[in-house]
Amino acid sequence: MQRLEMIRPDDWHLHLRDGEALKAVVGHTARQFARAIVMPNLKPPVTTVALAEAYQQRILAALPADTQFQPLMTLYLTSETTPEEVHRAAQSDAVHAIKLYPAGATTNSEAGVKSLEALAPVLAAMQEVDLPLLIHGESTDPKSDVFDRETLFIENTLGQIVKEFPELRIVFEHITTKKAVDFVLAAPGNVAATITPQHLLLNRNAIFKGGIRPHHYCLPILKREEDRQALVAAATSGNPKFFLGTDSAPHERGTKESPCGCAGIYSAHAAIELYAEAFEDAGAIDKLEGFASLHGPDFYKLPRNTEKVILEKREQTIPASFPFSSGTVVPMRGGETIRWTFARSVAT
Ligand code: DOR
Ligand code: ZN
Repeated sequence: MQRLEMIRPDDWHLHLRDGEALKAVVGHTARQFARAIVMPNLKPPVTTVALAEAYQQRILAALPADTQFQPLMTLYLTSETTPEEVHRAAQSDAVHAIKLYPAGATTNSEAGVKSLEALAPVLAAMQEVDLPLLIHGESTDPKSDVFDRETLFIENTLGQIVKEFPELRIVFEHITTKKAVDFVLAAPGNVAATITPQHLLLNRNAIFKGGIRPHHYCLPILKREEDRQALVAAATSGNPKFFLGTDSAPHERGTKESPCGCAGIYSAHAAIELYAEAFEDAGAIDKLEGFASLHGPDFYKLPRNTEKVILEKREQTIPASFPFSSGTVVPMRGGETIRWTFARSVAT
């Protein structure tokens, strides 16, 4: 049996939801990760420091008793966000970034940004106080092809933001294309990206394998095999611009298995094992620790974790579903076996 000892990882992009749903999923993340950047796309969205601090308290209250897990909070950028709120966020121990959703791009993004020009003073304040901007990078032009939306966003919006705010730390979230990898590689050191397990392990054929597969539908949507390969190359390169962000996004089963199914793949139950599989497939398991445990805290200017954990190359069968709110959530690889198992923390 192969065994991998590594510094405890962090998840730099996570959806925890709220209420009963939060209680159902937070333990999965807390078991593996020391910290997570928690997305603010609740209904209503987390738009102020006061709302983020209250949400953080609800997450802490929902945690299993024996965990040190730390939720790192984000604010949801809207046309109402002010430079004063940015300054409050910079002063707060709870808030670590602000998230930009183009209005209509994804789940609960209706309150997102319609015009970036008007938000220039807010982005300038973020640059000044060195608070990272996290970006869902997809064009919302309804005429655009769903597979081209990330590329269009790079060409029409992201390039401009990077140019106008040269010192602003930016995380291009859940990148899905070779174009995005190339953009991040060519950009200065203040521009980084997260990559999900599904975009490393699957291409768009997975959405249609033998029939339509709603549990493989997420946004940005899975792309071509050549894109997947470019993402694997980036994640396993050792380049500190790329780090782990699961985008684990639970939805109740019936809302995905529906005539208009929600976007989101749930991966928190076996996140680090799924990444281990992708890295092993690429012959680069030695690069997992940098991607999962070192590059993220370095970019966010937070201390690296010191505790270590052990992954074992030992098969596990993933349950077909987990309890979730009033129903169930179907996890990534539900009902299948995966090669790695998160075993335990290393006693210190
Ligand atoms: O697939 C997705 N699900 N993409 C997102 O950007 C949001 C997320 C969610 O909140 O369900
Ligand atoms: Zn997300």
